[in-house]
Amino acid sequence: MLKSRKTAAIALALGLLAPVFGLAQQQRTPAQNPPAATAGKLAPARVQLNLGRPALPQEIAAWDIDVRPDGLGLPPGKGSVKQGEDIYLERCAACHGEFGEGAGRWPVLAGGAGSLKSDNPEKTLGSFWPYLSTSWDYIYRAMPFGNGQSLTPDETYAVVAYLLNLNDIVKEDFELSKENFASVKLPNVGGFYDDDRETAEKVFWKKNPCMKNCKPEPAKVTGRARAIDVTPDSKTGPRVE
Ligand code: HEC
Repeated sequence: MLKSRKTAAIALALGLLAPVFGLAQQQRTPAQNPPAATAGKLAPARVQLNLGRPALPQEIAAWDIDVRPDGLGLPPGKGSVKQGEDIYLERCAACHGEFGEGAGRWPVLAGGAGSLKSDNPEKTLGSFWPYLSTSWDYIYRAMPFGNGQSLTPDETYAVVAYLLNLNDIVKEDFELSKENFASVKLPNVGGFYDDDRETAEKVFWKKNPCMKNCKPEPAKVTGRARAIDVTPDSKTGPRVE
């Protein structure tokens, strides 16, 4: 009696589980089932849980879109200032302004040359960024805001060419391509240098640094990154401990 009940229970369990396993197997496409050779190579001789699978080359390619300053990582393609203007007006200008001046409080993309030392620095291709790859990579990856990765490589080349023109770096008849990408030099490339704190701030690096009452006189605000006036006035503002 006992034995047969047990058998029934096992049969029931198998009966319940079999369709589930069957379904799981059926739902996997051939592409998701790695060939036995690959699976054998990756998995050591132990129980295989069959969780996950090696990433497909297409999946890796979809993630691997970063572009280096020397242009490594760029997809093939090209686009002109003129083509870029049309794309920009349609898909970017609503936020960034027709001339890159920034609509409302959306980021400014053009101008600002010489503004980095002012109270209101504008960080654009023309004023701040050292390499064009920063803009290309960022736009291709993340813009238009809310619809990132909707631009094709050609559209991205075109819109970046247009931004270069808005920043007076290239003429109206310019065409940007994978081939000439690295030849575009941005004005502030010399404004960046390797981290030199080990020498420039050597005076701070002491074996026993001061941790208490290090500055004899009270601390003062000597500069503001941006004149948005949110730093409390030292006389009228609330006391800052
Ligand atoms: C809906 C509004 C919107 C649209 C449309 C839009 N952007 Fe942006 N853009 C933003 C916002 C917001 C940021 C800042 C995002 C952040 O800092 O996380 C930004 C940042 C950028 C930056 C970096 C600015 C910097 O120097 O930090 C670039 C370049 C840029 N956008 C280009 C474009 C281009 C080219 C298009 C059209 C293909 C576009 N954007 C469309 C809102 C928009």
